[in-house]
Amino acid sequence: MSSNKTVGLSTRMIHSGRNPSNQLGAVNPPIHRASTIVLNRAEDLYKDGVRTYGIGGMQVHDELKNALCALEDANHCLITESGLLACTLPIFALVGAGEHILLPDNVYSPTRRYCDRSLKRAGGSVSYYDPTIGEGIADLIQDNTRLIMIESPGSLTFELPDIRAIVAAAKARGVATALDNCWGSGVYLRPLDLGVDISILATTKYAGGHSDTLSGALLLNDANLANKLAEASADLGLCTSPEDASIVLRGLRTMTTRLKVHEKAGLEIAEWLQTRPEVSQVLHPALPDNPYHKLWKRDFTGSAGLFTFELKPSSKQDVLNFLNSFELFGLGFSYGGYESLVMNCDPQLVYRDKNNLKFDGPLIRLSIGLEDVEDLKADLEKAFATLPQ
Ligand SMILES: Cc1ncc(COP(=O)(O)O)c(C=O)c1O
Repeated sequence: MSSNKTVGLSTRMIHSGRNPSNQLGAVNPPIHRASTIVLNRAEDLYKDGVRTYGIGGMQVHDELKNALCALEDANHCLITESGLLACTLPIFALVGAGEHILLPDNVYSPTRRYCDRSLKRAGGSVSYYDPTIGEGIADLIQDNTRLIMIESPGSLTFELPDIRAIVAAAKARGVATALDNCWGSGVYLRPLDLGVDISILATTKYAGGHSDTLSGALLLNDANLANKLAEASADLGLCTSPEDASIVLRGLRTMTTRLKVHEKAGLEIAEWLQTRPEVSQVLHPALPDNPYHKLWKRDFTGSAGLFTFELKPSSKQDVLNFLNSFELFGLGFSYGGYESLVMNCDPQLVYRDKNNLKFDGPLIRLSIGLEDVEDLKADLEKAFATLPQ
């Protein structure tokens, strides 16, 4: 089964990307560790479509691509060694010397760093846009703009762009669009259905789900664009290990089920935080009073377990005491794993345009894992108790 829309997404994720009759009856595809592949016939050495070297991927890579295509109903999939590489590969492939890219001001900061450093060194140029710009993006598109990156929501401050308006403006000028879909994970947001050309996944996060792999994926319908990305990947010699491919494929089997728990627990904790006197606001688009709630309802079918809240103004030491007091929440940067994480994220806003930021207090980002919600609340409560009353 690949992309059979007549069955639900959970069913598809269980039954895509494996074929026991080709796997000695084993439920899951095998892990082949291979560089050299020996062929039976000399005629096959230079024949198109014959697997001749491990760098092109083995059975487990093929099956992972099938399952990822089924996730977002995509025709083409590339897998990468990290989510960051899934963000930077389209830029490497599509934006060259004398060409231009538009990035949202809230873009994942290593993507920003790639453009400011490597893209500029290669002769490309970059402009940043306010993620809430909507159709106003049309005024920023230049004749040499080749790619518009979108991120929804921003992974620290949770702005939602108007994806449809940005895509319409890009299409009117023949510019490609790529959307960092790490939060929606292909489950709660399907960018290709909204006309986006490239959906970017850090499968490190909810697909992997266990904080033990680094991996990414690019999903597309356009064969020409997919070919350009595949050529760039081949030029660079990129290849994901079969173990990582297998880990991500295993994670996909339970991702929709896990996300329901992340979603429910995340919302319950977000709502509870709104009642806390120490908190000035909660940045979670599924909350009805969130300024992006309408857009979220229009484009998303659910919410991940990652969100941020703003503490009332506090000293640096108060924030450190707060963070150091957690027992269940780990102090860490990532998300999407089974374990809950906490960090202060406002130090990462140094790159942002200050006009787009209106925060008086420190920002705390939570990734809600699969623990019991009451235990997570108790851990948060203990941390709040460290703050001066
Ligand atoms: C929004 C976003 N995009 C991309 C990435 C990159 O993923 P990876 O950690 O797999 O490189 C991350 C990682 O935190 C992220 O938060």
